[in-house]
This record gives sequence, structure tokens and C-alpha cells, in this order.
Amino acid sequence: MDRIRIVGGNVLHGTIPISGAKNAALPLMIASLLTDETLTLDNVPHLADVEQLIRILGNHGVDYMVNGRREGDGQSYARTIHFSAKNIVTTTAPYELVSKMRASFWVIGPLLARMGEAKVSLPGGCAIGTRPVDLFIEGLAKLGAEIDIDNGYVVTRARKGLVGNRFAFPKVSVGATHVLMMAAALAKGETVLENAAREPEIVNLADCLNAMGARISGAGTPTVTIEGVTALHGARHAVIPDRIETGTYAMAVAMTGGDVLLEGARADLLENALDVLVQAGAEITPTNSGIRVRRNGAGIAAVDVTTEPFPGFPTDLQAQFMGLMTKAKGKSRITETIFENRFMHVQELARLGAKISLAGQTAIVEGVPVLKGAPVMATDLRASVSLVIAGLAAEGETTVHRVYHLDRGFERLEEKLSHCGAVVERVSE
Ligand code: EPZ
Repeated sequence: MDRIRIVGGNVLHGTIPISGAKNAALPLMIASLLTDETLTLDNVPHLADVEQLIRILGNHGVDYMVNGRREGDGQSYARTIHFSAKNIVTTTAPYELVSKMRASFWVIGPLLARMGEAKVSLPGGCAIGTRPVDLFIEGLAKLGAEIDIDNGYVVTRARKGLVGNRFAFPKVSVGATHVLMMAAALAKGETVLENAAREPEIVNLADCLNAMGARISGAGTPTVTIEGVTALHGARHAVIPDRIETGTYAMAVAMTGGDVLLEGARADLLENALDVLVQAGAEITPTNSGIRVRRNGAGIAAVDVTTEPFPGFPTDLQAQFMGLMTKAKGKSRITETIFENRFMHVQELARLGAKISLAGQTAIVEGVPVLKGAPVMATDLRASVSLVIAGLAAEGETTVHRVYHLDRGFERLEEKLSHCGAVVERVSE
């Protein structure tokens, strides 16, 4: 199993190209199930989760063809992938596939809407929490689906098609908003989703669905209106830049000091997180080609944050921010409100010398002047990269084990960081 070896202490200087967003690419790929024509996606990142979803879609009969730049053609590995769901060969998504990646549960929306039925395994819990699917079930039932839970599967039918309705989410959910938008796109009549998620990935999906012939308005606001159509057609659409990767590297620069251009990054996708970084002492300058992040010799200021649905501070940057705060001057309070068990990085950061105590859903981080390198264990995707950020500023050598977590969501991380002067390498065992 690979590990990442880091020797801390170098400042970062240079350019880091920002990849397409994993969490935008996944629902866009799933949207290909809604039409028998080809959906072409540009700027698709090369990540383990994308490869896994290609396998899952393949199980339903989706063909794909990759073109774009080849390895070695410059810094970006962004790919263009053509997806064609001309023939859906099965509407069942088995446990073996769904259990590997929660987002694959989302195929339930397009399969049900286009084929009138779907049988999708319950995804189960995962390292960051129980992650139920009640909102998907309630929402699809509102659109007229019959739903049963049978042997660990959600079995759903709408033989005469889905029918538009009004559904108010009792809690904001990114995944359930994606799924209900996709399902309602092919329902009869109008659907109004209230208290919908407002994440940029929702807007990216709505734009793609509209390019495919859907009639969706209000995406990016709490009320999304979908006027159902009888069929969708092929389209070409680009994945937005990854705001979580952007925030992660911005925090890495804030941690080590230096001057880095995050090429292709968009400041409007992560305003709140950038404000927090400015409060912590980073200089952030949006430019025509991306976002420039600088921090000079001054120390990092302690800042309190609470994770919230967009436009609040994202839960997917909570671990990285905690990594940064381990070296802040003073105490910061980091409160996690989205997932109940997203503090597994605390113990690993402590191995590097961080001082963190937990009080319920709040971590109190007391900044220390020096972190010291150590072997640490990645526990989930974002937790892993918080260890990389801490390792970049720790004295001596840090080894991050279980790197497969990182590979799910960070494209060529060691290459991007080492181009900017960090000592980071992948070691195969
Ligand atoms: C998406 O997950 C992201 N995943 C997550 O990123 C991200 O952390 C999360 O949104 C929140 O921003 C993808 O986009 C692939 P939710 P999702 O439904 O859609 C509860 C990463 O690191 N809930 O918005 O699964 C749920 O348990 C990943 O890239 C219900 O109670 O998240 C959570 O507490 C991790 N019932 C809250 O809502 C439901 O039916 C928000 O979850 C559905 C969700």
C-alpha cells in the first residue's frame, strides 16, 4: 500500500493547477443515465472515485469514451469523457458497488425517472457518520414513487411516470437535492424544492440538465423550480473547478508561507472559506487566471469556524482548517454541524504534537509553535489531507499511511505540491 512521505519546513512558491471538482463530476456523470444520447463532460478529474463511478455506470449499460490530453501533455490531466446510456441494461445497483461509494446511491433518481423503476442498495454508514437516505425516500415518494425497503435495497417504482409536486427538505442535503432535480426533470408537471442545497455543484448540475433540455430555475437559491419535460437529449458541459482542492492548497500556503497561484480556481465558489483565511493572516487575491495566495513571515491568527451548508464554511474543509490552526497563535474553536463523526483527524494531528481537545461537536485547538513529524494514518479523504498540511509545516519527516483515501479526491497531490518546493513523495511498499 502506498504512503506519502513529507519532509516539512519548506515554503511554497509557484503555480498549482486546480482540477475539476470531484463532487460536481460525480452527479454530472450520473445525469448521463437520463438520456439515450451522448453526454460529453469536459474537465473531468482523474480520481479513484471517478473511476469507481465509471464502473458503476457500466453496470447499468453506460458506455464511455475518454479523450483529451494525454499524460505528459502539460500540467493538466483534465479529461473529456463521453457517456452514452443508449441502452440501460439493468435498473439494479448492487450492494458490492454501492457500498464502495455513497454517491452511487444517487443513480436511483435518473433510473426511476427514465425507466420507471430502480432497485438500489442502501449505502450504509461510512467513516464520517451514519448518513441516512430518508430525505431521498421522502422526496421521491412526494413525486409519486412507490418505495419499499427489501433486503437492504430500496426498491422503487413509478410505472406511469413521476408527477411533479412541492417538497420542502426538513434538512439541507446536497445528494438529495441532486437526485430530486434529476428525477423531477422527467416528471409530469412542476416540482418545487424548498430548502434545497445551494452548493455550486448543484448549480453545475442544473446548468448541465438545462443544456440537456431540462427546465430548471432557481438552482443556487433555497427554492428550485423544475418544469418536467418528456425527454432529455445529449449535451456538452464542463465540470467546475474544485473548491475544496482550492481551499486545501490555500490552507497549505497559509500554513507554510510563500506565494502560490491556484490556477483556474474561482473565488466565488468559496467566499466564506477565503474570508476565514484572510482573518487567519493569508493574503488572497483573485486574478484573471485564478487565486493568488500569499503569507509572509507573520504567524497564523486563531479563528473560530462553524461548518454549515453553502454559503457557510464547508465541512469538507474542516479537517484542513484544523491542520492550519494547530500552529496558530492562540485558541480556535472549530464546530462541525454537518456530520456527527468528522473529527478522526484529531488523534492523528495530536501525533504531530497538536493540542486539541473535543467538547461534543466542537474541537478546541490550542496553537503550538512547533509540530514534529511522525507516522500518521489517513482515515478519510479530507482528514488525510489535513495531515499533509500539518506535515508540510512539521519539523522532520511525516509519513501518511493509507493513501488510497487521498487518491479518491486529490489528483496528483504530491506532484502539485513538490512543483512548488515542498518535499513530498509517494512511496510504494
Ligand atoms: C455531499 O455528501 C458531498 N459528497 C460530501 O463530500 C459533503 O461533505 C456533503 O455533501 C456536505 O457538503 C458528494 O458531493 C459526493 P448531504 P452528501 O446529503 O450529499 C444528512 C467529500 O469529502 N442526511 O448534504 O452525502 C447527512 O447525514 C464528501 O468529498 C440525512 O439525514 O451530504 C448529513 O448529516 C464527504 N438524510 C447531512 O444530511 C438524508 O437522506 C448533509 O448530508 C441525506 C442526508
